[in-house]
Amino acid sequence: MRCGAVVVAAGSGQRFGGAKQFSILRGEVVAARSVALCRSVAEVVVLVVPDGATENTYGADTVVVGGATRSASVRRGLDALPDDVTIIVIHDAARPLATEDLFSSVVEELLDETVDAAIPGLAPTDTIKRIEERDGRCWVAETIHRTSLATVQTPQAFRARSLRSAHGGDPDATDDAALIEAAGGTVVVVPGEIDNVKITAPGDLELAERILEHR
Ligand code: CTP
Ligand code: MG
Repeated sequence: MRCGAVVVAAGSGQRFGGAKQFSILRGEVVAARSVALCRSVAEVVVLVVPDGATENTYGADTVVVGGATRSASVRRGLDALPDDVTIIVIHDAARPLATEDLFSSVVEELLDETVDAAIPGLAPTDTIKRIEERDGRCWVAETIHRTSLATVQTPQAFRARSLRSAHGGDPDATDDAALIEAAGGTVVVVPGEIDNVKITAPGDLELAERILEHR
């Protein structure tokens, strides 16, 4: 079982207000932290960055330029991984607080040959409602039973051949597991981590600093 990882860091950080993946968190670049986490399970790590940001590797073995969407960026990373990796971990650079244990737990699920992918998921704690817009206002359409729901994170681990095949035809989705599901593959959910926040909005870097202070 040879494992490779792709760290996607080619976003523009619209909601954050800039390239959050290159912000400094406790003296270390966010993307570098995410690359280092991947090293705990992967022999080879590819970092996918915006055009013009290839001069620094942030600890990765290879740096490539990403695409217009997250899925396109993942594909650029897959193209740069060696053909002989059998397990591929995809991780958002914007999640620098995942633990090494989380990486191990998704990868270990793939020891079961019937599993195509393993992803971290958390049970939602808020009540969830489906809503619809009508007459310029937002209305509740129904309450969704949350016992059957999970919010999901990265790192996500995949059988390499399943992931490469699911990306055939250049599909688009907000995570890679969705492409496996669409292709009829099996996706296992392992317990996610509350502290594995995705740096998204301006205050999230400070939130990450506070979480690290208590580790
Ligand atoms: N990403 C990427 N290529 C893209 C879009 C996103 O590599 N074309 C990466 C981001 O750098 C990030 C991860 O995918 O590490 C998750 O995306 P998100 O949190 O949405 O980051 P951004 O797309 O940069 O932020 P925003 O959506 O607010 O612009
Ligand atoms: Mg985005």
